[in-house]
Amino acid sequence: MSSAERTVQISGSTVIVCPNAEAASRVAAESIAATIDSALKSRGKAILGLATGATPEVVYANLAARHRAGGLSFQKVVTYNLDEYYPIQPIDPLSYRSYMHRHLFSRVDLPANQAHVLDGTVPEAFVREHTAEFDRWIEADGGLDLQLLGIGRNGHIGFNEPAEWSVAEAAAAPTRLVELHPVTRADAVREFGDAAKVIPRALTMGVKQILSARAIVMLATGPRKASIVAQALRGPVTTAVPASLLQTVADRVVWILDEPAAAELGS
Ligand code: GLP
Repeated sequence: MSSAERTVQISGSTVIVCPNAEAASRVAAESIAATIDSALKSRGKAILGLATGATPEVVYANLAARHRAGGLSFQKVVTYNLDEYYPIQPIDPLSYRSYMHRHLFSRVDLPANQAHVLDGTVPEAFVREHTAEFDRWIEADGGLDLQLLGIGRNGHIGFNEPAEWSVAEAAAAPTRLVELHPVTRADAVREFGDAAKVIPRALTMGVKQILSARAIVMLATGPRKASIVAQALRGPVTTAVPASLLQTVADRVVWILDEPAAAELGS
């Protein structure tokens, strides 16, 4: 870590504030590489939970560069992605499977059968079976060593959207099929090009699985995230802001922010 970053504790979580998004992405990539290294040394494999969206793109570019330089192998890494639109074909350029292929899977030596993304082609009658199986695969792998997260403008993590249920219910939520929140659908117009084309449902890893990760790295950059970052870190734990539930496992969470995303945190 360079001296340009500052680290503070907020609501029990470690918060690293970097001068810009590139520096924040580099710190996140360093943390993932260090987790892979230590998990390989202690258990012979590393289990990563991965995120999509615009924010982690530079993280994946950084990991791919480390791989090309010869310092990082994914041969013994197993990955589980947070979410996927439903229904969608994996070869659709808008699918998260294809996002992951473009940004990471095709650029590193991760064996194909160790890269898991929820399947947007499963018939609806079998979705429950598929999502339960996804949770069982993670558990059979010994749980996630690290979960990389982004945050939606409405505070969603994965596609766990703001909801009117109790914190206990949300914290127990398994991987499942969900309806996307209006704010999420509006933000997805950026990818889909047209509001009418946004796929309104998705499969998402549940909050339970996310909170069970041995380490959670939340990366948020840019001024559009400043308000929700402050609510999630400084506000009450509430299902109206799903990322606020990270406060319940604060000692395992590192928030990596750039200055614009940290702007409303106060001192
Ligand atoms: C998307 C993803 C989330 C992601 C979030 C933020 O819809 N499902 O996992 O963290 O929204 O995306 P972005 O990084 O593009 O702001």
